[in-house]
Amino acid sequence: MKVAVIGNGGREQAIAWKLSHNSNIEKIYCIPGNGGTALENKCENINLNNINDMVEFAKKENIELTIVGLEKYLVEGIVDVFQKNNLKIIGPDKKASLLEGSKVYAKNFAIKYGIQTAKYNSFDNFEEALKYIKNIEFPAVIKADGLAAGKGVVIAKDLQDAENTLNDFMNNDIFSGAGKKVIIEEFLEGYEMSVFVLIDGENYKIFQTAKDHKKILEGEKGLNTGGMGAVSPHPMLNDELMKKIKEKIVEPTMLGIKREQLNYNGILFIGLMIQNNEPYLLEYNVRFGDPETQAILPLLETDLFEIFYALSERKLDEIEIKWKDKKSCCVVLAAKGYPVKYEKGNEIKLDTNALVFHAGTKLENGKLLTNGGRVLSIVETGKTLEEARNKAYNEIEKIKFKDKYYRKDIGKI
Ligand code: AMP
Ligand code: GLY
Repeated sequence: MKVAVIGNGGREQAIAWKLSHNSNIEKIYCIPGNGGTALENKCENINLNNINDMVEFAKKENIELTIVGLEKYLVEGIVDVFQKNNLKIIGPDKKASLLEGSKVYAKNFAIKYGIQTAKYNSFDNFEEALKYIKNIEFPAVIKADGLAAGKGVVIAKDLQDAENTLNDFMNNDIFSGAGKKVIIEEFLEGYEMSVFVLIDGENYKIFQTAKDHKKILEGEKGLNTGGMGAVSPHPMLNDELMKKIKEKIVEPTMLGIKREQLNYNGILFIGLMIQNNEPYLLEYNVRFGDPETQAILPLLETDLFEIFYALSERKLDEIEIKWKDKKSCCVVLAAKGYPVKYEKGNEIKLDTNALVFHAGTKLENGKLLTNGGRVLSIVETGKTLEEARNKAYNEIEKIKFKDKYYRKDIGKI
């Protein structure tokens, strides 16, 4: 059978790699894929970038199942179009994707269903937002309502910073509409956790947890990035915390999904802040995380296709998800200068035994070249996180390209 994975990051390669272990899968189309998926067993890159072309392709090629990595297509309604055409696809429909596509929708949903989250107000009028920030404490968090390529959240340190941010988002419209509405919420202090939940509409299963490292510099300093590394499971997770996460976040979320009659058949990525041992919802994402997926999937024992199939058939309760008794560490190799300005087109020498998932790479005349800011993710597993870390950092030494940059503290903090 044939399957398709939509997206071009390390996350999508990790999904394709794991799916390739299923002996019934003969072909995995990566739409559009990257330099790594071009080399991956059973994979073929297909350059399509609109939903109707993807539907036509899935019909023509008799694709059994499509998995969507990129939120953009989910928010645009790819699931609705595939399902209308009787094509199996993993992900929420357009309305359910508002959980990620609109922070105002997600916050209202959280309040309606009693999900623990930071106090907030939403505004679509600049003057009112401006009046409001004159009476709040700083730091405060300002969020653009819509998708803003990971740049839509600003921690404003003082009134001036907040005013500038509101001006950029609402008046200067730097996110082409996505920042016309904003949320202003209280700043939470603690540590973050990514929790992945499988939802088949009826049932849920906690899939796995991970810790993301979002900032460019060691010690979580500097600019925000698409993610500089991840470890899994989250090192701070324990049974007591998981119980609270289920009771205060996941179960009320499931109740909301059912009551609002959301068509949700996929993975829900819950971004949490743990403050004083209490979980607070920061955000929902309606797809797998990057680079968390690269850290998580090497730990999975169960066949990934079986999990996706059970999801699409609403039979999640019939499968058991098994994990290796190991920890994993994923370190992202970036091009120096990322996330601002960096070179592309440098040759990559990959002489490693580690799992390597590509992001910004391309294959040209048989040569592997850098083609983006985040270039590769390197993953190792071990009995302990320390073992996984040491293995990953050893392997990184063997990978060479000009201007290679990576954080040396992934999994340490
Ligand atoms: P979000 O897209 O809402 O998850 O926000 C992106 C990042 O901003 C999060 O991963 C946190 O690091 C930070 N953040 C968001 N909301 C808050 C908050 N209320 N307090 C502190 N940090 C936050
Ligand atoms: N790791 C954060 C994200 O995938 O959005």
